[in-house]
Amino acid sequence: MSDIHEQKILILDFGSQTTQLIARRVREARVYCEIHPCTMPMDQIAAYAPKGIILSGGPASCYESGAPSVDQGIFGLGVPVLGICYGMQIITHLLGGVVARGAKREYGPAKLEIHKLTGPFRDVEQDEPQPVWMSHGDRIEKLPQGFEALAVTGNSPVAAMGDIERRIYGVQFHPEVAHTPGGAAMLAAFVLGDCGCEPIWTMHNFAEATINDFKQRLGGQKVICALSGGVDSSVVALLLHKAIGKDLTSIFVDNGVLRAGEVSEVAGLFRDVFGLNLVVVDAADLFLDRLKGVTDPEEKRRIIGHTFIEVFEAEAKKLGEVEYLAQGTLYPDVIESVSFKGPSAVIKSHHNVGGLPDKMKLTLVEPLRELFKDECREVGRELGLPESIVSRQPFPGPGLAIRIMGEVTRARLRTLREADSIVQEEMRAADLYTKVWQSFAVMVPVKTVGVMGDERTYEDVVALRIVDSVDAMTADWSRVPYELLAKLSSRIINEVSGVNRVVLDISSKPPSTIEWE
Ligand code: XMP
Repeated sequence: MSDIHEQKILILDFGSQTTQLIARRVREARVYCEIHPCTMPMDQIAAYAPKGIILSGGPASCYESGAPSVDQGIFGLGVPVLGICYGMQIITHLLGGVVARGAKREYGPAKLEIHKLTGPFRDVEQDEPQPVWMSHGDRIEKLPQGFEALAVTGNSPVAAMGDIERRIYGVQFHPEVAHTPGGAAMLAAFVLGDCGCEPIWTMHNFAEATINDFKQRLGGQKVICALSGGVDSSVVALLLHKAIGKDLTSIFVDNGVLRAGEVSEVAGLFRDVFGLNLVVVDAADLFLDRLKGVTDPEEKRRIIGHTFIEVFEAEAKKLGEVEYLAQGTLYPDVIESVSFKGPSAVIKSHHNVGGLPDKMKLTLVEPLRELFKDECREVGRELGLPESIVSRQPFPGPGLAIRIMGEVTRARLRTLREADSIVQEEMRAADLYTKVWQSFAVMVPVKTVGVMGDERTYEDVVALRIVDSVDAMTADWSRVPYELLAKLSSRIINEVSGVNRVVLDISSKPPSTIEWE
């Protein structure tokens, strides 16, 4: 097998909201790609040796002073170039064409009439105009020399252009978004057809290559990994286990704020089924003692984070000399720190075991650094992880502690665990568990009056939080069927003692957040 990174596409980012989607579509075509800022120096671009370059969209106007640009040298590399929206305009601008503010902004759906089935359009079966998604105010007034218009829409006489000989193309619409149904095939046609990449970026190949690489690099050295039971850390642990076996020690900390049955499920699967060298640390009492009387959300997070590091470090010390810490950082976290948007975009440290590597002077191993979440899940499936882990919804590090408003007590944890289990069960039964982003219960710190039988009750309120999202940066409450809500409400009130009311959270993010604390 040739090196899976050898044939790669370089995506230069001009700050579009959808740049990551371009990368995902290219990966779906089984071609490796990376996103770098448009300011990447030419010598680095040349050294990177891409088989093709895609220029993303962006919010700027290319004729304004200070507008982001790209080194013209990319056109001399002899590799195909595709500009999307702003990317097309910057190509035009740099190669001597004219971009100007259009008479009308074009935003939303449009019908694309393709005149030449070439380049990205080579595989289009054109019976009728293609639905595409537009989002631009500027348009091409004059094509650069050597270019011709390949497609039009009602508002854009040059909705796509190409210098067919040099294989430089531009599209005014966004092929990467779902609203352009044929867009993925266009991007695939560009990277496979024009750039000549072979479709070898499969998660089977990735797993094999990563395991081989680890065997060579890490063989005989000690690696530790914090296993949380989430998909990312599970995939990291399994990849390393397959490479170095018992030289990997996975540590699973029971922090007392996990969901019902989680400890036994994770221990059973990874130790008994996969044969991992797994240490399960029961630190529930320590965490819960420290959380006593604490109601401030940030304080809860801080206590849990610090206590985790303390417990993990103590456990790691018992292993003697350890060189490496494996962590499940994913590609979106990596891009955020290098993106064109600049250094202000910080990595969400809470998503990983923040602080551990520095404190323990360990070298990081991050086998998922190149992967999107979907790809990580695919690797999990390749490695035989059960669907219950692979398609697990995200669960925050501070666990149920930030879903119990007010003080975290054992009694309230018990109540929330029971309610949470019912939510998970019913979401799965309705076949919605994997369709929504997250679905969970929250303990509200108020009691309300109810009536059960002939008795007046004065008990707790549970809130339901069910959201749709693509990346947790924004979210909206899921429009789940009333029947499901009715079932959740009646089951929780009937089966969970101490609860007499269920409410539904109908807030979007922003301005709310997904979690309540
Ligand atoms: P928010 O509440 O900020 O959550 O809208 C966005 C996503 O991040 C998860 N989340 C966390 N994950 N540690 C984590 O590992 C945390 O402290 C934490 N806080 C929120 C949340 O579940 C959602 O998916």
